[in-house]
Amino acid sequence: MAYENIRLEKDGPIAVLTVDRPKALNALNSATFHEMDDALRSLKDDTRALIVTGGGDKAFVAGADIAEMVTISAAQAREFSALGHHVFQSLENLPIPTIAAVNGFALGGGLELALGCDLIYASEKAKMGLPEVTLGVIPGFGGTQRLTRLVGRSRAKELLFTADRIDAARAKEIGLVLDVVPADKLMEHCRAVAARILKNGPLAVAQAKRVVEYGADQDLRSANELERQGFAVLFGSEDQREGMAAFLAKRPAAFQGK
Ligand code: CAA
Repeated sequence: MAYENIRLEKDGPIAVLTVDRPKALNALNSATFHEMDDALRSLKDDTRALIVTGGGDKAFVAGADIAEMVTISAAQAREFSALGHHVFQSLENLPIPTIAAVNGFALGGGLELALGCDLIYASEKAKMGLPEVTLGVIPGFGGTQRLTRLVGRSRAKELLFTADRIDAARAKEIGLVLDVVPADKLMEHCRAVAARILKNGPLAVAQAKRVVEYGADQDLRSANELERQGFAVLFGSEDQREGMAAFLAKRPAAFQGK
């Protein structure tokens, strides 16, 4: 599939997905979602981390495409919402770490895209918020739920009700982003984080992601059971043998992801 609204670039084991619709500050329309869906499906086993960012120097993603939504019916809105949910759920389901490099405006659907990633880093220029109520709607791609789980109900409601646009420092203060870095260092920073992850056993990283994701919405007892299963299953892997043997032999591990 040829992409018009996104770019997918491979740099060794790291893939970079850039939403790139400069005419609409990278706003997400249906076509962009279909391209993102295709791009996520196309990732092969040799991709071990994904960075998501926005094209240009102004926006990460300025939201869902308002021009596409302005006249749609409730049934079409449900479909559009389902499409966005599907793509962001696919991001969460990837067995590799996903990193949002928030390089500018991350509003509405843009913030929801970042929230669908495992780790969020922001440039000093980033501005984030959920302005949907200013348009007479609410977020439709998981923002009400993922933001609440990340920063707590009260802060999430504050952002949802006021539509406040917060800067990167404030986003870090409330636990929405992990770190804030100078704009020209953002991708380097995200690649460096990915590189630190890539040194580790890929099956173990995938399992850690899985048990956090599935466990987060369960009671502690069920979630801990998931952890026990995830822990045990890794003992059938070559990576576990290699990781532990390498430690005992005082040499670096050579993980194969098997
Ligand atoms: N949808 C469609 N087009 C958009 C857009 C969006 N979300 N955001 C920006 N654009 C377009 C503008 O219409 C403009 O197009 P023209 O040049 O053809 O007029 C172009 O991008 C540049 O934008 P601005 O001129 O507005 O740029 P600015 O620097 O003055 O402002 C901004 C930047 C503050 C991000 C402003 O563009 C803005 O407020 N954008 C909308 C943000 C928003 O409300 N997002 C939420 C969308 S709803 C949503 O996401 C629902 C959901 O969860 C499903």
